[in-house]
Amino acid sequence: MYERIIDDRWTYRDAYTKDYTHCYHNYPAMMIPQIVRALIAEYRPAGRLDTLFDPYMGSGTSLVEASIAGIDSVGIDINPLACLISDVKTRHYDSLQIEKDYGRIAERIDKYSEKAVEDTNFDRISNSGYWYSRDVLFKLSFLTQLVDADVRTRDFFRVVLSEVVREASFTRNGEFKRFRMPSSRIPAFHPDVFGMFRAKALRNMDGLRQYNSVALRPKVEVLRTDASVGMSASNIGPESVDMVITSPPYGDSRTTVAYGQFSRWSNEWFGFDNARNLDNILMGGHKYDREIFETESIRSELDSIRETDARRFMEVISFLNDYWLSIRNVAAAVRHGGVVCYVVGNRTVKGVRISLDYFTAEMFEKCGFDHIRTIVRGIPNKRMPAKTSPTNIAGERVDTMNNEYIVIMRKI
Ligand SMILES: C[S@@+](CC[C@H](N)C(=O)[O-])C[C@H]1O[C@@H](n2cnc3c(N)ncnc32)[C@H](O)[C@@H]1O
Repeated sequence: MYERIIDDRWTYRDAYTKDYTHCYHNYPAMMIPQIVRALIAEYRPAGRLDTLFDPYMGSGTSLVEASIAGIDSVGIDINPLACLISDVKTRHYDSLQIEKDYGRIAERIDKYSEKAVEDTNFDRISNSGYWYSRDVLFKLSFLTQLVDADVRTRDFFRVVLSEVVREASFTRNGEFKRFRMPSSRIPAFHPDVFGMFRAKALRNMDGLRQYNSVALRPKVEVLRTDASVGMSASNIGPESVDMVITSPPYGDSRTTVAYGQFSRWSNEWFGFDNARNLDNILMGGHKYDREIFETESIRSELDSIRETDARRFMEVISFLNDYWLSIRNVAAAVRHGGVVCYVVGNRTVKGVRISLDYFTAEMFEKCGFDHIRTIVRGIPNKRMPAKTSPTNIAGERVDTMNNEYIVIMRKI
């Protein structure tokens, strides 16, 4: 079918993944920068490589790597938090300006009192008292007021604040889903909101200095767009990109990686659009009643899921429908001779493994691409969750993936 090559080189077991601006903000299922670097070096298309495109950019790993390599890039995502993070990570802010502004913020933090907090209306945060203590809400509001005071540096510090907004909430540690910590732990939970902000700001300022030391400053465009609906022709015209390096979701956000839930604290805090219903508009969020693609590569897997559970089958189909639409859009944006690299995971539904790597290759083939190869890489740590909770029941976990597949295709 679509040959898979197991290659241990791509595992990057001990790779340091937080250099440059990659350290700025945690995000679910982040790509390893070294993989993007290696794909650019080894699979760059013949002829020009002027523009790299990431249609599900998340926290912008591909865009940052393209930028470091001196290649123009464009990235899209429908998660507003992803757009904020990617935009900030790819900007060459003036380090001196950022340091000066950090000094102003730090000085004001030292003089904090509740009376100095201007905005104490937290209605935009759903269930604010359930997720935060009063002290934390006031301190976060104070930081927001300081950060928003200077529009030139505001977004840089919003990214710093965004991680604090999530980590200072009563969320159960280290999880992407919205589970609250046990009530017994709440009385002893007093996060050092200002200390967290300072430490993250200093970390990100180091990352910025390293990023700014790279001489090249190519163009980067970050757009809030739905990959399944279509690219705005003014930004990503037909046959306008040379290379795509991306990692799409491997299922809908409710039953696989919870992008919407992970981002909700920040999206609500900043008053971004769709904060509460993001999972409904991410791929697979919209429910279809039939398949809109034709597949041979995973037909038997889909049929066996349908036999055991018709509802789960339709959930899988809804995701694959959106995924197919997005592949058609991406394919149209790539020039002839251009290369796409999709890093995908093959999850298991009702005991049946769905070979998303085959499906990806097959759908690109339908759009006029040749399969170059699929590289199989082991997942060395918990970056991509090998276990998820498909039932959404806390604690109920099932092995879904141990490998990732890098599908590489060329447009004929
Ligand atoms: C695996 S993550 C990308 C992670 C990224 N490579 C990184 O290193 O951070 C997949 C992304 O797809 C986005 N996404 C889901 N549905 C989308 C759609 N219809 N259009 C655009 N982006 C979408 C999610 O918001 C998520 O950020």
